[in-house]
Parts: sequence; structure tokens; C-alpha cells
Amino acid sequence: MGFLLVSYSLTGHVQFLCEIIATRLGCEHLPLAVKRPYPSQGFAKFYRGGRDATFHWPVRLATPIPDLSSFSTVIIATPVWASTVSPPIDSFLRKVDLSQKKVYVVISCSGGDTRRCQQRIHALAKSNGVLGSFLSIDPKEETWERDAQLASFCTAVMQGTIYEEEGSV
Ligand SMILES: Cc1cc2nc3c(=O)[nH]c(=O)nc-3n(C[C@H](O)[C@H](O)[C@H](O)COP(=O)(O)O)c2cc1C
Repeated sequence: MGFLLVSYSLTGHVQFLCEIIATRLGCEHLPLAVKRPYPSQGFAKFYRGGRDATFHWPVRLATPIPDLSSFSTVIIATPVWASTVSPPIDSFLRKVDLSQKKVYVVISCSGGDTRRCQQRIHALAKSNGVLGSFLSIDPKEETWERDAQLASFCTAVMQGTIYEEEGSV
């Protein structure tokens, strides 16, 4: 039974983490695209995305959702938008049943609170329990120093054990 990494990234930070994770786990990676892409710059970037996230408005995914039956573990990777989950991941989670899966979470933010985002994922995943979350602030190659922590997270995913964040993000 394999691992599936499902992600959404608008400006590349989540994507940066996912490339490392997918390589380490040797797992399938499903980066979600939306039918009507979000603007990645200016006022519109925050306006439309923030509104959709705040009201949990569903968005149409351009990425087909695969059959999840062959995956025992699903890793959900999202940026924080308006203190909650990005709409593409929110919409994905509403369409799938993760109740029998091991679920791990990867969250990137710009320094705000991630608790509501985590709570929303826990609620939508309906999993018996999210086994761990890796939290990061705008990670990017130039300033990346948390390789050891990300390696511990990947080890926990591979072993199906609980991951507890150590130190600061
Ligand atoms: C619409 C929108 C809303 C955001 N809201 C928050 C927020 O509430 N708290 C926060 O810390 N960062 C917020 N951010 C910043 C992103 O979570 C952060 O930059 C993240 O690392 C971006 O990941 P990405 O480059 O993979 O898209 C927001 C970004 C966007 C585009």
C-alpha cells in the first residue's frame, strides 16, 4: 500500500517542500490545478483567494482525482489562506474519503496562525487522527535550513508513526 502526496501551491513554497518529500518517499505526487487559476500577484491574489478560503467556497479542480484505494497514507500539503486551508485542497478533501487512511499534513504560511487550517483539515479528512503536521514559514531553497526536521517527518510517514514538530518552524 503506497503513499500519495496531494498538494496545492500558488507561489512555489509548498511545491518546494513537496519536491523534497516526494523524492525522499519515492511516492506519487498529485499537484492540484484549478480550472480558473488564482492570480499570483497584486491585490487580486489576496482578494479572490482570501474570499474563497474564508467562505470555504468550492473550486473546480482541473486535476482528475485518482482512485485512492491503493494508497494507505495520504499527505496533504497546503498554504494557509485567510487562516484556513487553500480552496483547492478544501475542495479535494470534500470529494474524497480519507477515513480509513493514515493522514499527514504539510502547511506553509507567512507567519500567521496555522491552528484553524489544521482543524479544518482534521475535520474534512474524517480520519481517525492526523498523525502529524509539518509546519513551515515560506520555505524556499535559498534559506532552507530544516532538512533534518523534514527528514524526521518523512521517516514518520514511512513508518506510519506519529510526528511531533520539534522546536520552532
Ligand atoms: C489568498 C492568500 C491568503 C493568505 N493568508 C495567509 C494567512 O492567513 N496567514 C499566513 O500566515 N499566510 C497567509 N498567506 C501566505 C501564504 O500562506 C504563504 O506565503 C505560503 O507559504 C504560500 O505557499 P505557496 O507559495 O505554496 O502558495 C496567504 C496567501 C494568499 C495568496
